[in-house]
Amino acid sequence: MCGIIGCVGTEDTAYRLVSGLENLEYRGYDSAGIAVRNGQDIRVEKNAGKVTELKHAIVDDVPRGQLGIGHTRWSTHGAPTDENAHPHTGETGEVAVVHNGIIENYDELREELEAEGREFTSETDTEVVPHLIERYQAATEDLTGAFERAVDDIAGSYAIVAVAESEDRILAAREDSPLVVGFDDDATYIASDVPAFLEHTDEVAYLQDGDTAMLSADGLRVTDADGDEIEREREVVEWDAEETGKGQYDHFMHKEIDTQPEAITNALQGRVEDGDVSLENFPPGTFEGVAAVQFVACGTSYHAGLYAARLLNKAGVPANAYRASEYASGDIPATGDTLVVAVTQSGETADTLSALRQAQDMGARTTTVTNVVGSTAAREVETPLYIRAGPEIGVAATKTFSSQVTTLALLAERIIDDVAAGTPREDRASYLEALQRLPDQIGEVLGTSEAERVCRNHVHKEAYFFIGQGVACPVAKEGALKFKEITYEHAEGFAAGELKHGPLALVTPDTVVFAVFTGGERDEKTLNNAKEVQARGADIVAIAPEGVDVSACTDEVLRVPATDADLTSLLTNVQLQLLSYHSADMLNREIDQPRNLAKSVTVE
Ligand code: F6R
Repeated sequence: MCGIIGCVGTEDTAYRLVSGLENLEYRGYDSAGIAVRNGQDIRVEKNAGKVTELKHAIVDDVPRGQLGIGHTRWSTHGAPTDENAHPHTGETGEVAVVHNGIIENYDELREELEAEGREFTSETDTEVVPHLIERYQAATEDLTGAFERAVDDIAGSYAIVAVAESEDRILAAREDSPLVVGFDDDATYIASDVPAFLEHTDEVAYLQDGDTAMLSADGLRVTDADGDEIEREREVVEWDAEETGKGQYDHFMHKEIDTQPEAITNALQGRVEDGDVSLENFPPGTFEGVAAVQFVACGTSYHAGLYAARLLNKAGVPANAYRASEYASGDIPATGDTLVVAVTQSGETADTLSALRQAQDMGARTTTVTNVVGSTAAREVETPLYIRAGPEIGVAATKTFSSQVTTLALLAERIIDDVAAGTPREDRASYLEALQRLPDQIGEVLGTSEAERVCRNHVHKEAYFFIGQGVACPVAKEGALKFKEITYEHAEGFAAGELKHGPLALVTPDTVVFAVFTGGERDEKTLNNAKEVQARGADIVAIAPEGVDVSACTDEVLRVPATDADLTSLLTNVQLQLLSYHSADMLNREIDQPRNLAKSVTVE
């Protein structure tokens, strides 16, 4: 939700800012801009549209200077116009600011500043910040003090990064929006996320809520929420810069679908030993005393939570998945014997963080299953569990869903062992072996999938339904989410048995129904539900493991290798991802950056 970068210390500042913004575009792509300080003044270049447009706009006259900031926007206040693009300046142009988050009291601040005679040029909440800094700087002439006072005036969530004509430093502050600092030999960076500067350095320090930071070419000074100077620990991120490039692929999404075998291998690495689960930091007994489990998450991560809740329910453990935005209202009871698991790829989703905090306020035990080391979710729980999927740039989550489900499947086994209500599966060793075969089997699906051919038969239909039962139900919902997200076609995912309770009214010969089978005992019912839609003239495409006879409802089948019925959905999901990807490609959609969306949603 908006990508920020700042860089101090090099001559090619504009280049580094723009290439950083390209790597942050998954966070927003409504407009882009940079501000570069050249020793005399600050030059701002910004426009509506993507970073490429900004790049074209400056190619013949690149701003020069050793210090600068940049921003790629996902609009919250004001349309995606040139005026609303960041960086924003005040009256004099001496200070430029980029911001991620929402300033909740901006209306009153703006009124106050306008009453002082200050003129605003945008509709954004952000523009109050440079005006506030200028106001306080005029009174004190001290930029740092003025910056801190401006930040004190603001209520809401923010990552703010500012430069001033008079200073060779970058100032930054964070509250509920991520900021990470990167240290290179010749330069210091600050950004919303590591990929922004990963090609230059992998040595980072994460700022924390309430921090104010000052960056210079040779380092970082941080003051915490109490005003005390503090060292934020430096660490080396394990991501590889190559992982943040597209390689030979046309789209990040395709690359990320294709790299799922590696992602799952990483998720499993060292976590299955002697036929049992061995989760670092979660030794046997960790979850003793837990009476119920709640997963809180949004979007794709919510579907992973639904999947995990099913696995626990099957073993007798009371578990539910909740949409984080609903959970955060506080209506769902949780107590000291409830384990609340926040499932979040980014670890920064505002709704999920609110739900997590809500659970903590209620006294629940909490953890998070996340991809991003050092993310807010990871820092706000005692022991996070990482999915180790590596960076995911395509806005549509693909490999991270597979890695989440794999990691949650392991966590579920640990919970089942520890809690009184849990009945461990008798075939655990063979189940874990099946889990370890998944990378190869996904490789097989990727190598043989006929999804592209199937898409051609159905690409111009009116609506697309996805149905499944049991653990196939969350995957049907995920299939529909992916499909609507990147094709912009009408798609819905249902529990197969629910169709006849309403949605069947929507089924016409212009509808395609993707029926997801698991190889388990509920398949017979899914088959019957598929026949019901077939009788209404819809096209049926079955996604089924080898050996499951679906000929009673369709000839069109996308096959996956047979495996444990609880794990088949991780394979059928890959076929669904490919269906979405190829359909979107045939429709010429913006696959990696679907309209109106952003990957990391840091506002509620
Ligand atoms: C869909 C998608 C979103 C995210 C959701 C939660 O493809 O990516 O639905 O799953 O915004 O994001 P995280 O997992 O970062 O909390």
